[in-house]
Amino acid sequence: MNPTRVSTIASAIFVMISSVVLPAKAADVAAGKKTFTTICAACHKLADYNAKSATELQTALKGIVAGKVKHEKKLTLSDSDIDNVVAYIKAPPTK
Ligand code: HEC
Repeated sequence: MNPTRVSTIASAIFVMISSVVLPAKAADVAAGKKTFTTICAACHKLADYNAKSATELQTALKGIVAGKVKHEKKLTLSDSDIDNVVAYIKAPPTK
């Protein structure tokens, strides 16, 4: 079997496995990037969040949206917006 075919089969298997193992709606990194660049980038750089885990970011953002965590700007984000922006912050695509 040639290498291209092997990797095609490997990706197909990966897709099958991940669709079973991962939650039905995976975070959308591209949508997260859009949110980040349109809203957050005015004040934040990605590197600002290096010290925070994805869970800490989720918690902080939920708190900000709910008005429980002080933040310079009021943020209006849905739960999936939060998932997406956190996914982007933690794993920005390398162009
Ligand atoms: C108007 C400026 C501004 C905008 C826009 C903004 N932030 Fe912030 N944010 C701040 C400042 C100032 C702080 C406090 C200092 C710091 O931690 O950098 C902060 C803090 C935070 C924190 C840490 C909160 C904590 O106490 O744990 C998170 C997480 C965060 N911002 C996420 C975001 C995200 C995601 C967006 C876009 C959806 C965003 N911010 C948009 C100014 C802004």
